[in-house]
Amino acid sequence: MPFNQNNDNSVTLTHPSGSSAKVLLYGATVISWEVEGKERLFLSSKAKLDGTKAVRGGIPLVFPVFGKATEGPAAALPQHGFARTSTWELLGIKNDNDDVVAVQFGLGVENIDPEAQKQWPYKFGLIYTVELGKDTLTNTMEIRNDADAEDFDFQILFHSYLAVGDVSDVEVKGLEKVDYRDKTQGGKVLTQAAESEARLDITSEIDRLYVAPSETTTTVLEKGKAVVEVQRQNLKDVVVWNPWEKAPQNMGDFAPEDGWKRMICVEAGSVAEWHKLRKGDSWTGSQVLKALL
Ligand code: BG6
Repeated sequence: MPFNQNNDNSVTLTHPSGSSAKVLLYGATVISWEVEGKERLFLSSKAKLDGTKAVRGGIPLVFPVFGKATEGPAAALPQHGFARTSTWELLGIKNDNDDVVAVQFGLGVENIDPEAQKQWPYKFGLIYTVELGKDTLTNTMEIRNDADAEDFDFQILFHSYLAVGDVSDVEVKGLEKVDYRDKTQGGKVLTQAAESEARLDITSEIDRLYVAPSETTTTVLEKGKAVVEVQRQNLKDVVVWNPWEKAPQNMGDFAPEDGWKRMICVEAGSVAEWHKLRKGDSWTGSQVLKALL
């Protein structure tokens, strides 16, 4: 069976090769992706999976705002918006063949809570496709604006928590000489490409928004070997985040104590600027995660 609806409000996708993925309806959050029997996503052992809090781990969906907007139409929304804290509809299977199994989820204005509707009163519709291949996981978001509605501005990001053996052995490639905003320094100032490192080793807390790298693939290496790639399609930016050793103190749902060593977030999105979606228009962007080892 390539696709199974579980009793815990989740679905499991299984590929003929043996790879699998599990997606919660809450947030349409992918909480597991296994290739060759190995889990490729980090999920906190204290993550809430019961719909009371955004999931700490897996791939939460960030929409319509990245971080906390201080001004503009998204200013009333909580950090990272409502997509990750809303319960999505299962739309059904899109593809099932020897190459891929794909399932779609939907979220519209009617699915979000009345508070969020007040905070962001637009007539949007999201269709999220999760596609599992032998060694790939593709996440595609289509965003629609109703024909008889108002234009709106949005940001979107796939907040992927990638599992690693030890983050101190990790290097991220594909962001060399790219301008970035350092969120540990307030995120306002842009570090220019000329000062940006030739290679990015993760040796302390990191929270950076890399603005529009021309390279559309970001690669995570461990001890010099490429372990996973994040490819972007129509997604301009990349966020790299690891909260380091204070993670369990700062986040009540972060565990185990040394879990921060076992993860690196490489987040594909379009978040440095706002996208305007005119009424009647739609927008689509994807990331492809590819397991290499
Ligand atoms: C990252 C942000 O994308 O998400 C960080 O760049 C933030 O600044 C992190 O701390 C986690 O956010 P949250 O809301 O899930 O705790």
